[in-house]
Amino acid sequence: MNRKIVVTSALPYANGPIHIGHLVEYLQTDIWVRFQKANGNQCLYFCADDTHGTPIMISARKEGIEPEELIKRIYAEHTRDFADFHIQFDNYYSTHSEENRQLSSQIFKSLSDKGSIVKGEIEQAYCEKDKMFLPDRFIRGACPKCKSENQYGDSCDSCGATYQPTDLIEPVCSNCGTKPVIKKSIHYFFRLADFQQQLKDLMASGYTGKSVANKLEEWFSAGLKDWDISRDGPYFGFKIPGEENKYFYVWLDAPIGYMASCKNYCEKNGLDFDKVWNGKDYELYHFIGKDIMYFHALFWPAMLMGSGFKVANRLFVHGFLTVNGVKMSKSKGTFIKASTYAKHLDPEYLRYYYASKLTDGVDDIDLNLEDFVAKVNSDLVGKLANLASRSVPMLTGKLNAMLSSVDTAGKELLNQLTAAKNQIIDDYEKLDFASVIRQITALADIANKYVEVNQPWATIKTDPEKTRTTLTVILNAVKVLAIYLKPVLPVFVEKIEKILDVSPLTFADVESLLENKKVNEYIRLAERVEKQKVDTMVEESKNESAVNGSESEQKPQVTLDEPLEAECTIDDFKKVDLRVAKVLKAEKVTGADKLLHLELDIGGLIKNVFAGISQAYPEPEKLVGRLVICCANLQPRKMKFGVSEGMILAAGPGGKEVFMLGIDSGAKSGQRVH
Ligand code: 2FM
Ligand code: ZN
Repeated sequence: MNRKIVVTSALPYANGPIHIGHLVEYLQTDIWVRFQKANGNQCLYFCADDTHGTPIMISARKEGIEPEELIKRIYAEHTRDFADFHIQFDNYYSTHSEENRQLSSQIFKSLSDKGSIVKGEIEQAYCEKDKMFLPDRFIRGACPKCKSENQYGDSCDSCGATYQPTDLIEPVCSNCGTKPVIKKSIHYFFRLADFQQQLKDLMASGYTGKSVANKLEEWFSAGLKDWDISRDGPYFGFKIPGEENKYFYVWLDAPIGYMASCKNYCEKNGLDFDKVWNGKDYELYHFIGKDIMYFHALFWPAMLMGSGFKVANRLFVHGFLTVNGVKMSKSKGTFIKASTYAKHLDPEYLRYYYASKLTDGVDDIDLNLEDFVAKVNSDLVGKLANLASRSVPMLTGKLNAMLSSVDTAGKELLNQLTAAKNQIIDDYEKLDFASVIRQITALADIANKYVEVNQPWATIKTDPEKTRTTLTVILNAVKVLAIYLKPVLPVFVEKIEKILDVSPLTFADVESLLENKKVNEYIRLAERVEKQKVDTMVEESKNESAVNGSESEQKPQVTLDEPLEAECTIDDFKKVDLRVAKVLKAEKVTGADKLLHLELDIGGLIKNVFAGISQAYPEPEKLVGRLVICCANLQPRKMKFGVSEGMILAAGPGGKEVFMLGIDSGAKSGQRVH
């Protein structure tokens, strides 16, 4: 009987691009899902953007937009990148959805009713300027152990020490540089330890692989601690029902996002969500990276157990990606965005390469760029594509495109290929894709040997019918290998299906023969990778990090009040059009205590600008008539209170001390500033 399977991948954060590190997981999952489908099972693949939390709120604030606008833009980018890499979700949703709000509240209520959630008071760093509690990563200071400067509030990159943010020497808010104060607040806590025995039983039942289970043993021995699942506002997330200014911590509603995506899919497709998500008929599997094991092996199953939902059959955990043997690095150009890769290279090559490296273990996998070029060229192009490219044009060009039948010698060859089917299925099932690729390559070698021995390019001149038989055997071999490869290379195999004029192939078609039928013209299956393209991609990634550098792996070495931004080239700078502007109107903005609305005359061109200088200029009318410097070609930005069409230049530490850069009389509005 066919199985019914639900699969999820971890939800990517909605404040940055998908990169080749993320792709390890989405490709691993997609290959597994495609395998299940090709093997006759029903399989539904759900994912979503992980949209909540402080970093996303701050990123949006920095861009001067609402978080909703940011997550909408990122959603479009993420779904475009996934589609480029042929990652086929059955539903790709967002954690900022009604389904997720409702399910999060339901689970929270159910856990609270059972006494698994309790309230407690905590002390936390608070920025009085930003009026917000600061997550550990938003506090910087010197490491209490090795005294290295500019370390995060939770751990030191220099000596590896972990500590409390209150232990930092001279801590500051990483957003505004102010020294935080310690403030008390009531939070909600999930009593994880109550589930210890159930979690141990779950592990004993094979929820994870051995090495993950060992890690969990360590956590059990260290003792399970209560988990803080609330955050004070301002916070981008779901308000906790019944609370004025408290929100669910992003990690509470993120995994519930798996369910919300499934629910949304069921609603759109007339399915019963309770059956699909929680029913016995469906198996459930989560794919994650080893960095988020704690959440998925402890918190998440405990939340599900405590609120009456079933727990996944298994948690699949993979390792990280290294490039050329080391961590991805922006300065080396190996922190490569999915979109940059796709601009230069065929996404299927990465699918093939990752598959050739992936096993069911948690070891890191290495993308060695030289090996990548060599493997694609020698195996994918040289062995697999070559089988078809050597035979199809001969059949269509010289033998009316007609296959004959397979002879005894041919059957022997094909038997060797079909005999691998069960092992390949087993290996796909247990995520040993590296073994699958090894077997396919070895079988391709056998098929290529058959070509060498039978020499169709020679026999075509003397014995066309023998040649037709040879080509029939080769194309049957191509068909079998195409089925084995289909989960990894969907587009490559779709082209083979077109050439062979067959409907979508599945593992059930491995043994059937293609005989006495016409095939279609050859379509190019794969091009050789030029090393030059890889080099260009790497160079471009270096430049991108200089411009966008959002998650720099190196901390700034400067000791200014505010760290310098990434370098800007002279060409970048030339784009900035600075003009003298005359303030025509200046007024407060109702509902925004930091903003002034300015109307500026830039040489007859009138621009509306929203500037965060209200505290420094409490009597805005006094600004009317002043000449200021304005960046006149800034892309208009939609803000909550209207569109801002420029930016005025000012200096100062902020708050009341902001000084607009002015121009003495003699200058005319519209004049360029040099
Ligand atoms: O670590 C991360 O990137 C998280 N956004 C993963 C969330 S997975 C799930 F729990 F939502
Ligand atoms: Zn601050």
